[in-house]
Amino acid sequence: MTLKLQNINKHYKTNHALKNFTYSFNNGIYGLLGPNGAGKSTLINILAGNVIADDDSSILYDNHPIKRHNKEFRSKIGFMPQQQSLYDNFTARHFMLYIAALKGIKSKQAEEETKELLTRVELIETADKNIGSFSGGMKQRVLVAQAMLGQPEILLLDEPTAGLDPRQRVIIRDLIKHYAKDRIVLISTHITSDIETIADEVIMMNKGDIVCSGKVSELCGDSTNGIITLEQLYMQIYNEKDEEK
Ligand SMILES: Nc1ncnc2c1ncn2[C@@H]1O[C@H](COP(=O)(O)OP(=O)(O)OP(=O)(O)O)[C@@H](O)[C@H]1O
Ligand SMILES: [Mg+2]
Repeated sequence: MTLKLQNINKHYKTNHALKNFTYSFNNGIYGLLGPNGAGKSTLINILAGNVIADDDSSILYDNHPIKRHNKEFRSKIGFMPQQQSLYDNFTARHFMLYIAALKGIKSKQAEEETKELLTRVELIETADKNIGSFSGGMKQRVLVAQAMLGQPEILLLDEPTAGLDPRQRVIIRDLIKHYAKDRIVLISTHITSDIETIADEVIMMNKGDIVCSGKVSELCGDSTNGIITLEQLYMQIYNEKDEEK
């Protein structure tokens, strides 16, 4: 599976939020890093079909151009939005089954996957409670779980571990890693350790540009300074950007 993005641009009126974003994704986990407003959610939303890119942008999936997000391409995508927009009056189980129905998943498979995913995110015991009564982290875990329904080939997660306690963060990371075999997974995050532990590649963005990308081990293995952490690399890169202002 290859997802090729070529010259993806997005203007919100005069704000150029994504600038000629060009990158090829193969199976594996890709971490998107960058300060607030860098364009991470814009990119993810374009891929999810929620935001329309400018006209000159091109998306190719296994060399087929994706013009509009038709039903076939949508069915390959699992998406977790950054903003929590859950239905408070649904139970976790009903919410999952509802999303599964929207994705066209048959009811038996939907029930099985719902059970498995809610077990993995440790919500099976509260599966029949209303989402409105959940803590922020519990809601977050329902959102991650729903994105994986139907085992989509492309998984887009916008800050999946934001607001999770350390133990739940590790559980979600392991789930993503387990899931990612033979799939393309894009994760936007502010947590560098999430990327260090599970991502195959990192893409660092700033004001709609890619400022640095590649394998974490290669970017952080500096011949003069020895090995640095991704957080240290982040500080170096974005401090320089600040000084350029
Ligand atoms: N719906 C919108 N209308 C107008 N401008 C928008 C809209 N969505 C995003 N923007 C702008 O596009 C730019 C990129 O925003 P985006 O949400 O993609 O950043 P981000 O990297 O996800 O940031 P964060 O880390 O805060 O989530 C910002 O300048 C933002 O103000
Ligand atoms: Mg965002």
